[in-house]
Amino acid sequence: MENGRIARRAPYPWRVVIPVEDAADPRIADYVRLRDVDLRKSLEGGRGLFLAEGEKVIRRAVAAGHPVRSMLMTAKWLDRLADLTGGDTGDVTVYLVSDEVMEGITGFQVHRGALASMERRELPSVAEVLRGARHVVVLEDLVDHTNVGAIFRCAAALGVDAIVLSPRCADPLYRRSVKVSMGSVFSVPYARLKDWHDGLEELRDHGFRLLALTPAESAIPIEEALTGGRNALLLGSEGDGLSSRWLAEADQAVRIPMSREVDSLNVAAAAAIACYLLAAPGH
Ligand SMILES: C[S@@+](CC[C@H](N)C(=O)[O-])C[C@H]1O[C@@H](n2cnc3c(N)ncnc32)[C@H](O)[C@@H]1O
Repeated sequence: MENGRIARRAPYPWRVVIPVEDAADPRIADYVRLRDVDLRKSLEGGRGLFLAEGEKVIRRAVAAGHPVRSMLMTAKWLDRLADLTGGDTGDVTVYLVSDEVMEGITGFQVHRGALASMERRELPSVAEVLRGARHVVVLEDLVDHTNVGAIFRCAAALGVDAIVLSPRCADPLYRRSVKVSMGSVFSVPYARLKDWHDGLEELRDHGFRLLALTPAESAIPIEEALTGGRNALLLGSEGDGLSSRWLAEADQAVRIPMSREVDSLNVAAAAAIACYLLAAPGH
């Protein structure tokens, strides 16, 4: 060990492993208080980073080309993730902690035992993600990161080509979204509208028919509205649903018929059904 570092020697010759015993160590500031949403938003936005949690998700983030800033893990993950520091990731600093210190830093027990702090990249423009796309999902002002992650996972599984977010929609790269998406936030292209009020015009300009998903009885059943061509499914926020502006802008309001005992579906459940129908043969 040199100055608290285990540097480039067997059994981990390819990287720098730094044992950390104090949860207040400033070197691991990227990982603090993971459940404090406000703190995390400003910290991650300010530093241009996001966190990937668990082996599978970290691997997908790396494969998608996100540079690794550092990793934080308990000892049992050192071997499992050893190969990750090759190739494009170059040399990665690994902060090695006990379960207790991990919990002290992050604020909870990280069951998957490994976190990576990754660099964000500039998002493509809306025009770029729409080019060549046929099935698109558009999310208006969702606030729940779990829902955003679940919708990305559905989109990846059910053949959606791209996702477009309203300017205020929750961040797909927030740790919870990334985790719930199982890394689908790295495989489904997405972009953020700059303008909420007139932003949907850009989709129409690209030839998309705008289908507004709403539980309202006045809407037609979604299966009657799906035809071939370019379709964009608009999904609204957890509380209020789609805004009156976006409902008015849509070409057609569509509903998933439900039992009368229920007011609405969770937005991710609605997305799963709608994406499945959209990708069905013939649509
Ligand atoms: C929890 S719901 C919002 C409920 C809100 N009170 C409303 O009336 O839209 C969130 C989103 O899920 C979608 N959704 C939920 N249930 C639906 C249904 N039965 N048919 C179509 N979309 C639905 C809509 O896009 C909605 O904006």
